[in-house]
Amino acid sequence: MLSQKRFRIGVLGSGKGSNFVAIADAITRGEVPAEVALVISDVESAGILQHARDRKLPAEFVAPGKFRTKLDEETERVYIQKLRDAEIDLIVLAGFMRILKGDFLRAFAERVVNIHPSLLPSFPGLEAWKQALDYGVKITGCTVHFVDQGVDSGPIIAQEIVPVLDGDTAETLHARIQQAERKIYPAVMRGMAEGRILIKGRQTIWKRGEEAV
Ligand code: GRF
Repeated sequence: MLSQKRFRIGVLGSGKGSNFVAIADAITRGEVPAEVALVISDVESAGILQHARDRKLPAEFVAPGKFRTKLDEETERVYIQKLRDAEIDLIVLAGFMRILKGDFLRAFAERVVNIHPSLLPSFPGLEAWKQALDYGVKITGCTVHFVDQGVDSGPIIAQEIVPVLDGDTAETLHARIQQAERKIYPAVMRGMAEGRILIKGRQTIWKRGEEAV
C-alpha cells in the first residue's frame, strides 16, 4: 500500500490552548486526517505548550522580540524557518496574540487560518464577545477565516451562530462562543486536510467529498 504523507499542521498560540486541544483530540479520534507537526508559542508559560507536551507533540517557546503586538523582523524570520523546517502545510492560529503581516503571510500565502470569537465582519479586534454584548446584538458566534494583511479581514471559511441570552455576562457569552469554536475549528481542519476548501476571491468554496470509485 502507498503510504501518503499526512497533512501537517503548525499551531501558533499564546494562551490556554483549548482550540488546540479540540483539534489535537479530533486528530487522535481519527476525525481529521492530519498531524500536529509543531506548536509554537510566544509566551513561555502558555497552557498550549503544556497541552502539546502532554500529548508528546513538538512544542517550542520562541521569544517574540521587542514589540508588544507583532513579531519583529528577526523573530518573524525564526518563526518562518521553524515552520518551513517542519514542512508545515497549514498554519493554525489558536489564540496567537500577535499580528502577522508582510513576509510571514507571503511565505505561507493562503496557508494561514485564524478563529475569531464573533460573526465577522462584526466586531473584529480584541474581546469581540464583549463588543457584541456592549452593542446589544441578539446573535453572535465565531468565524474561521484565512489570514490576510488586515485585522480579522480575510476570506471566511466557516461560521457558527451563538445566541446572546438575557442575563449573559461577558464570561458566560465567551464560554458559549468557545464551545462553538471547539466544534468548528476541527471541522475546518478536516476540510483543509482533505483539500476540500478552495479560495475564490472573497469567497471560499467547500468541495463535496469525493465518491469512492
Ligand atoms: C479563542 O477564544 C479565539 O477566539 C481567540 O483566542 C482564543 C484562544 O483560546 N482567537 P484558546 O487558547 O484556544 O483556549
